[in-house]
Amino acid sequence: MPFLSDTLARVKPSPTIAVSTKAQELKAAGKDVIGLGAGEPDFDTPENIKDAAKRAIDAGKTKYTAVDGIIELKQAICAKLKRDNGLDYEPKQVSVSSGGKQVLYNALMATCNEGDEVIIPAPYWVSYPDMVLLAGGTPVAVEATLANNFKMTAEQLEAAITPKTKWLIFNSPSNPTGAGYTHDELKALTDVLLRHPHVWVMTDDMYEHLAFDGFKFCTPAQVEPKLYDRTLTINGVSKAYAMTGWRIGYAAGPLELIGAMRKVQSQSTSNPCSVSQYAAVEALNGPQDYLSANNEVFVRRRNLVVGMLNDIEGVTCPTPEGAFYVYPDISGCIGKTSKAGTLIENDEIFATALLEETGVAVVFGAAFGLSPNFRVSYATSDDALLDACTRIQTFCAGLS
Ligand SMILES: Cc1ncc(COP(=O)(O)O)c(C=O)c1O
Repeated sequence: MPFLSDTLARVKPSPTIAVSTKAQELKAAGKDVIGLGAGEPDFDTPENIKDAAKRAIDAGKTKYTAVDGIIELKQAICAKLKRDNGLDYEPKQVSVSSGGKQVLYNALMATCNEGDEVIIPAPYWVSYPDMVLLAGGTPVAVEATLANNFKMTAEQLEAAITPKTKWLIFNSPSNPTGAGYTHDELKALTDVLLRHPHVWVMTDDMYEHLAFDGFKFCTPAQVEPKLYDRTLTINGVSKAYAMTGWRIGYAAGPLELIGAMRKVQSQSTSNPCSVSQYAAVEALNGPQDYLSANNEVFVRRRNLVVGMLNDIEGVTCPTPEGAFYVYPDISGCIGKTSKAGTLIENDEIFATALLEETGVAVVFGAAFGLSPNFRVSYATSDDALLDACTRIQTFCAGLS
């Protein structure tokens, strides 16, 4: 349509949101659908956080705030970054936005010029490449394959860097694979970055607290303090505190960059929701014990799903270190035909046939830049997971 912008033509709508919407529509139409597409915990937001929000409303904290966040929240974020990550930041180095998504968007809009390259290990969170494109940059995907547990190697990073590289976007534990980089694996990457002083690192630590089996989360500026001046450390309350709907994400980084991000936000949305900011203060400053309690539930569900998927011939599912996703490889299913007669040519066709023939909604791997796979979000009840994995087993057993 000529009326629409060229910029818009460069990007596609979020495929993960599309899958959730389709599953909801089928459900509303009376179909028996199990949605494993949504990237959000099924837990309710903890009571102490909800109470803090209610208190904020009653106290009339319902007006505009400073564009990139109230000082109480910035202080809570600095305390969190010190406590959990050993990183020293001052409140003026912190920017708060309406979700981690807006933080990433602001940062890319504030820094990308035409021709700037942004390295993104694939499989990646669906929004990274499209946000880079919206900002006028060029996404450079680096395939982190099953053979290396979906982690990019130092050699791959080195080979991807050019004089035009502006950012590396780093995400551990990862959406969509759940893969988490150990200290040594991350150090190998930061060593490469040390040799290329023009490359900055945007680290998306959204799944920091969803780390299992003793996996020790680490973040680039912590592993290599020499990168502090060119690192943007991004995090948020959405996933760990079951606060996806509250829309609070944040970043800490060099003053000039934070100021540039504030400028973008000041001319787009202004401040994130005032009430949500007070809730986030409580999330970060309040008790943290439910994080480990939630993780016990997630580990149980992960093990259930990984076990049942690996029982399927043609499917390989590594056990991830964190987040609430698994990303099974389905190479052994490609080229086969489903019971209803669909030729499974690729993972998108697999996911569509699975939804239509069994009512299980998953997101196909091509959306995340590595195929043939699909992503399961196991942030749903054990019963639903058991039912869904049984249906996937039956579907795959029916392939011939
Ligand atoms: C890796 C990653 N980063 C950022 C986000 C965005 O989080 P928020 O809901 O806070 O915008 C998500 C949400 O799915 C995510 O998976």
